[in-house]
Amino acid sequence: MATEPAKTDASAAVNKAVPVVVPAPPATPAPAAAPAKKEDSAEKWVKPTGIPELDFVLDGGLPASSSILLSGDAGAGKTTLAMQWLCAGYSKFKENGIYITMTESTITLVRNLKKTSFYDVNYMASSDLTAENFETEIAARPGIHFVDLRQIMEGIGLMKAEYTYEDLDFLIDTLFKLFVKSDVKRVVLDSITAVAYLMKDEAMIRSFIFRFGKLISMSDSNIMLISEAKDEKDSVFGIEEFISDGVIRLKYGDPENNLPRTLNVKKSVV
Ligand SMILES: Nc1ncnc2c1ncn2[C@@H]1O[C@H](COP(=O)(O)OP(=O)(O)O)[C@@H](O)[C@H]1O
Ligand SMILES: [Mg+2]
Repeated sequence: MATEPAKTDASAAVNKAVPVVVPAPPATPAPAAAPAKKEDSAEKWVKPTGIPELDFVLDGGLPASSSILLSGDAGAGKTTLAMQWLCAGYSKFKENGIYITMTESTITLVRNLKKTSFYDVNYMASSDLTAENFETEIAARPGIHFVDLRQIMEGIGLMKAEYTYEDLDFLIDTLFKLFVKSDVKRVVLDSITAVAYLMKDEAMIRSFIFRFGKLISMSDSNIMLISEAKDEKDSVFGIEEFISDGVIRLKYGDPENNLPRTLNVKKSVV
């Protein structure tokens, strides 16, 4: 008997996860210990992701204003989980979100999103922003924005084979406008690997990571940095972890041998 294909839901992977122990966040953090950007009331310290299985694994959710490296091989489910996290944020908490892509077009992303069980047309804020209008549009429209960073950079002459430090300044400024200055509460960058590959050498990659880390610390959003890591590594350049408060690792599993997708929380997220 033919059955309808199951809709994708990243929770399926989370259900079968083998979580590494996540230390519980402090119930009442001492004000002096909390970074200035964190919200000061204890009950806001941990923010539920809105995906019940993920919140279970994370002991309640993610720390407010934290950045998470979401790593895994191609096909592991990073994009799907990140989109589900944005949808849960808007549907359950009315938190505006932004998916900044460097790898797939927004058309492909939205087409795939529509196949999932967690999509609702009312969540969609925009998917065709340009260098000229992205700031005003993000400020004006509630919901989830899908932004092709390559298209924005093309518009300001930043898609180049050879990056200079001046170009890096413009890129940092664009990222600042996209997720620090704007009022989005959930940010996905897909991927930090692809952005770092724009840099011409290791020194520039380090400079980018350092400056991007400063931007993250200025933002009060929760940020997922997607890392296209291979094999057992969580990052390609070995330094992306330094600007992340935690690492969530997805693995594809082995469908032929009936081994499921898995999700591991690998670094303390407090
Ligand atoms: N939890 C899941 N359960 C079943 N299929 C999934 C799950 N997560 C992703 N997929 C499917 O796997 C494929 C790759 O997912 P994707 O999120 O694009 O991976 P990545 O971004 O890591 O390359 C897609 O076809 C997607 O629908
Ligand atoms: Mg992807």
